[in-house]
Amino acid sequence: MADAKEKARVEKLREMVNYHNYRYYVLDSPEISDEEFDRLFDELVALEKKHPELVSPDSPTQRVGAEPSDEFRSVRHRLPMLSLNKVASEEEFADFHRRVLELGGIAESEVEYVTEPKWDGLAVELVYEKGVFTQGSTRGDGITGEEVTPNLKTIKSIPLRLSEEKNKAPRLLEVRGEVIFPKEEFEKLNRALAKAGEEVFANPRNAAAGAVRQLDPKITATRPLVFFAYGTGELERARFDNHYDTMMAVRDWGFRTSKEIRLCRRPEEVKKEFEKTKAAREKTSFEMDGVVVKVNQYKVQKRMGELSRSPRWAVAWKFPPQKAKTVVKDIIVQVGRTGALTPVAVLEPVRVGGVEVSRATLHNEDEVAKKDIHIGDTVFIQRAGDVIPEVVGVDKSRRTGNEKIFKMPSRCPVCGSKAVRLPGEAATRCTGLACRAQLVEKLAHFVSKGGMNADGLGFRWIEQLVDKKLIADPADLYFLEKKDWMKLDRMGDKLASNLAAAVESSKKPDLPHFLYALGIRNVGEHLAQVLARHFGRLEVLMETGEEELTQVREVGPIVAKSISSFFSDATNRKVIEKLKKGGVVFPTYEREKLPQSLAGYTFVITGTLENFSRDRARSELEKRGAKAASSVSKKTDFVVVGENPGSKLTDALRLEVKTIGEKEMVALLKGDKKPEDL
Ligand code: IVH
Repeated sequence: MADAKEKARVEKLREMVNYHNYRYYVLDSPEISDEEFDRLFDELVALEKKHPELVSPDSPTQRVGAEPSDEFRSVRHRLPMLSLNKVASEEEFADFHRRVLELGGIAESEVEYVTEPKWDGLAVELVYEKGVFTQGSTRGDGITGEEVTPNLKTIKSIPLRLSEEKNKAPRLLEVRGEVIFPKEEFEKLNRALAKAGEEVFANPRNAAAGAVRQLDPKITATRPLVFFAYGTGELERARFDNHYDTMMAVRDWGFRTSKEIRLCRRPEEVKKEFEKTKAAREKTSFEMDGVVVKVNQYKVQKRMGELSRSPRWAVAWKFPPQKAKTVVKDIIVQVGRTGALTPVAVLEPVRVGGVEVSRATLHNEDEVAKKDIHIGDTVFIQRAGDVIPEVVGVDKSRRTGNEKIFKMPSRCPVCGSKAVRLPGEAATRCTGLACRAQLVEKLAHFVSKGGMNADGLGFRWIEQLVDKKLIADPADLYFLEKKDWMKLDRMGDKLASNLAAAVESSKKPDLPHFLYALGIRNVGEHLAQVLARHFGRLEVLMETGEEELTQVREVGPIVAKSISSFFSDATNRKVIEKLKKGGVVFPTYEREKLPQSLAGYTFVITGTLENFSRDRARSELEKRGAKAASSVSKKTDFVVVGENPGSKLTDALRLEVKTIGEKEMVALLKGDKKPEDL
């Protein structure tokens, strides 16, 4: 047992470590050297090791320690995490200001705005109960996010316990803010990734998101993430009547907040802040893409209210895209996973918005012609927010006459097959069935972060696996053995085990990631999410026809066609079967848990419903615990009858099963009616 002296020393050390952490990571102004800090920290570690009973979850030694997890739990935010409407000019801001006066019901002289930079990172919510950090989650879709507490604990600017020096900690506090990856560190990370032949991050925001969503907190701990608080969720609001005072309290509780939080009383002041922040943009260590303007007084905020996704009382005033001038050294052609030949400008490296740019996609032949870009031209490139840099125009005054016109090759630069451009299409495509470039791109997409997320399995390994004929489709990955990995160049024992483990751990994807990984044309990450939510299971999606697919919100005829032709392709179906044999577990979409009000009841649907596809209706019923069967039997409780019902209606009548309409079904789904009431 620890004696009183040791106990007191542990307390003292914790206090000192916390204080110096705060000076270093929050205030950015350390008082002691790194060596001195390490000595204090090491002494604390040693004492806690000697007396494990003294370890507490909020001790600064407990930032890293949790074991890797298999997946993230989803959590519902107590209050939705909204997003912001954007304005892009002084006029648009003036419109916002007018709405504030009108809807807020206040006079020009009463208006108060709070401005601060709009950080470009990942939004998270931190929950403090009785002053202790107990749960952290990502924003997710604003309603539910992923629980990432152990990862967030590794971020030193997130206090594990609130400082109560100036303000008593509330019983419950939710702090919201942005996790950001410092710009310089981001470039360092990308250089290291590129050197290792791995996929680089497109921007600091993706790097931050990648780090926070690591299953192993030990990896997160190695990333130099910073947390900036910009607001609160649940909090005893009564304490404060405006955002500014709340933010000052948040600062006093030990959080890093922007040094540029300003209280402005007139639109002109807001404009000045915007200009000032814009001018400082290049020099700051953190990526920002605008200024957030919020109405300060809570009573005015309340009067204005919110729309479904964003409050009326705040806007993001976005910076204009950043531009630079450079020279097109060459135009090369890349082959993507769909065989599309994409012209890419190879640029004299140039910095735009704090990021070095050496390539820019030119999309397709027409685009090159329209913008009239020649090899050797001096061009303007622009980077808007976090998107990929783009060539926006040519400085024709710099032409010398030695520039070369780009011509789309008539053969695939990788496999030599004919490249054709079909009528009505912008893309020229390689027709090679066995084009190596297409295969490599498909596989790289399959294992990418947005897909199966086989960590570390970068391009250079995929290229070798393909070239050595170890894999010919994604499923082959799951049949590789250690000895196969060892056949690759520059492969070691440890690395081979790591890669094999990464493939192994990718066997349990969630449905959105799995759908994205398949690389169905036109199905990006967002649509994969939409489809997963709608269909719940891969098997359901696979059997849904083109017609029915278009009933899904956000799915138009083109997307429906590419989905249905993907799943009706025999080769694709074989690969999917093979994935299963290789041990890939086909996921179902984890839905939010609804009250199981229909548990024990069996439904059959017949005919066409007005507001639901049959699949959707089935899945809505199932979400509430019901069983949705495909044929009517004596065990069926309800037959939902739509327009033009089929033989199931006759069966229902014959078997004397209760029939209901769509309206009644909706009432059951909503819980307005109970099944026993019908
Ligand atoms: S306030 C209701 N302040 O922007 C107000 N958001 O489009 C909600 N963001 O998801 C947000 N810096 O991730 C606020 N200083 C700032 C911000 C900020 C970045 C992000 C945040 C949010 C998104 C909204």
